Formats: sequence, structure tokens, C-alpha cells
Amino acid sequence: MQAIILSGGYGTRLKPITYTRQKSLLPILNKPMVAHIIEKLPHEVNRVVLAANYRSDQLEEYFKNNDFGMDIIVSMEDTPLGTAGAVKNASQYIDDTFFVLNSDIISSIDLQALLDFHRETKGLGTISLWPVENVSEFGVVALEDDGKITKFVEKPKKEDAPSNLINAGAYCLEQEVLDYIEKGKMVSMEKEIFPRIIADDKGFHGLQFEGYWMDVGRPSSYIDAHKMLMDKKGVKMWQGEHCILSGRFIYSCIGNKAIIGSSDLVDTIVYDEVTIGDDCRITSSIIGANCKIGADCVIENCVIGDREIIKPGTRLRDESVWTKPLPEGYPHQQIGNAVQK
Ligand code: GDD
Ligand code: MG
Repeated sequence: MQAIILSGGYGTRLKPITYTRQKSLLPILNKPMVAHIIEKLPHEVNRVVLAANYRSDQLEEYFKNNDFGMDIIVSMEDTPLGTAGAVKNASQYIDDTFFVLNSDIISSIDLQALLDFHRETKGLGTISLWPVENVSEFGVVALEDDGKITKFVEKPKKEDAPSNLINAGAYCLEQEVLDYIEKGKMVSMEKEIFPRIIADDKGFHGLQFEGYWMDVGRPSSYIDAHKMLMDKKGVKMWQGEHCILSGRFIYSCIGNKAIIGSSDLVDTIVYDEVTIGDDCRITSSIIGANCKIGADCVIENCVIGDREIIKPGTRLRDESVWTKPLPEGYPHQQIGNAVQK
């Protein structure tokens, strides 16, 4: 069985750390998001297809060096084809019922249960569902008692939402779904394909699951996902290897080879090989790899790109820090599914 992981897009809501990094390789507790997802796949899955575009070479490199005991293929798009176009582009690697998984989600979803339910209902597609309060950034469904989905609306206005159950970003699909997707075009699974399968009454179902779910597509939710996983592990900080740390850390995650002086870090994610001086206070921020932060800085709610240097005594609040040119191939504007903050 195969699983397509939608690893494309630019992660514009997480720039500038996504300027230099393939979105699905963003670390969560120092491990790429995509690795968290692969580890949850049912045993039946023996091939993973990573549908990617920007910086897909980084995925090739990562999976060359890390063996997950299965066939892993990077399916490349020259330009982003959208969530359905990317699946169509990878269709040569599919020969059975298959999973499609968003890569920017951390959850307790039971993919085996989703597959079992899909086989029971014998429809064309089955999607995982999760209840939220604010539905407007998600795909929202109308669901019948037997799990049949009668409506799917992507990012509706609050008043137009058919329920509070959202698309949690994991699907089981039959190969016939591929026939709905035009080749080589930008096509959205959520806006175009799901509504058409429902209109054709081809069998489209949803399964709600228990536990936890988080979309980690923006800085605040990326940080919240770390906090939630730390809570689950019963720890208040997480650190990589070969660090020299003298600070105080609350809900903060520190990458490998970091050197941090006597500073306070709260709700903060620090990537590999970062140096932070004494007497800093850093809250709700993401600090990219190889950054150097001088002593006595106050940094609040910031995303700092790789290799930035912050001078001693700097005060930063609500900023994205990137002093270098925009990397080649990265869009000037947000594209794709995203809704601006
Ligand atoms: N290969 C490829 N090509 N992947 C893409 C592309 C593309 O052109 N565009 C987006 N993706 C990937 C993203 O990396 C992500 O893993 C997934 O497809 C969904 O795209 P997002 O841009 O993150 O969408 P979203 O968060 O606004 O909404 C989606 O996720 C919600 C749950 O978090 C939708 O699926 C919603 O319906 C859903 O509720
Ligand atoms: Mg997303």
C-alpha cells in the first residue's frame, strides 16, 4: 500500500525559517515533521511518496541518510500543482487504495482505523475529521450519522460552516479519485475534487478521532505543537545533543550543538548550532540554525531566519528577521491554500 505525503508548498506563514528549509523537514522536538508522520503509518504501507517542489533536494538528502525501512520516493513538481495536482503528478507510484496526508499536522490520528472504516464503507474516499471552535481556516463538512459526508466547504465564513467538524488532513482514497484530477494543472483536492465526488454520490465518508490534533502551519501553532508534545512527555524542555546550556527553559526546545548562556527562554524553539549570550529573555519565538544572539537581548514573538546575527542589547517584538536576499524560487507573495494571519 502507498501513502502520498503532501510535502510541497513554501510554508509562507513560517517564513523566514522556510526560506532555507523544505517545509516538511521543519523539526518538531528536533525531528522533521515528515518523520513524525511516517512513523504513524500502518504496517501495510510499504511505499511513501513525498510530493514536493521547493527544496525537494533536502528531502532526497534526508531520506538518503535516514532509513525508515520502506520505499521512499520524492515526486517532484516543477511548480506547485496544489493538493490534488500533486497527487495526480505522483499517480505513477500508486497501484491500490492509498493514503494522502498533509505534512503540517501533528496528531494522534489512527490511520489503521481510518483504513478499516474506508474498507467498510466501500466509498471512493474517507477523510479524518476533528472538531474545532473556529472553523474558518479549514475544510468543513456536513456529516450524517453513518459517516456519510454530504457537503465539504473549504475555509467557509463562520456563518456558512455546515458544522464544527473539519478536515484533519488525512485521507484514504481509491485510485478512481485520480480520474477526477486533470493532469499538469493546479488543482485543489479540497475546493474541487471532494465537492465533485460528493456531487456524484460516489461514496465520501468521514471518521472523527480522539486524542490530539494540531495544524503546525504558522508560528504560534508550531510552538503550541511543541508545548503539547512536551506536556504529553511530562517535560518542560527538550534538547538535542552536544549542547552547552546554562539558561532557564520553560516549554522550549533546543536543537543540537546549541550554546546558551544564563538567559530565560519561554515557549521558544531554537534550531541547531545557535549561540545565545547571557541575560537574554526570549519568548514565543523561533530561532533559525546557526544564529548568533548577543547578550542582553529581549526577543518576543519573533521568527529569526538561519544564520542571522543579533547584536547585544537588541529589542525585537513581533518581527520576522531576515537580512539576506529572498532565496531563489521562493515566492514574493503567499500562494496556495493559505489564509493570511
Ligand atoms: N506537493 C504539494 N504541492 N504539496 C502542497 C501544495 C502543492 O502545490 N500546496 C500545499 N501542499 C501541502 C502542504 O505542504 C500541506 O502539507 C498540505 O498540502 C495542505 O496545504 P496547506 O497549505 O497547509 O493547507 P491549509 O492548512 O490551509 O488547509 C489544509 O489543511 C487543513 C488542516 O490543517 C486543507 O486540507 C484543509 O481542508 C484542512 O482542514
Ligand atoms: Mg496547513
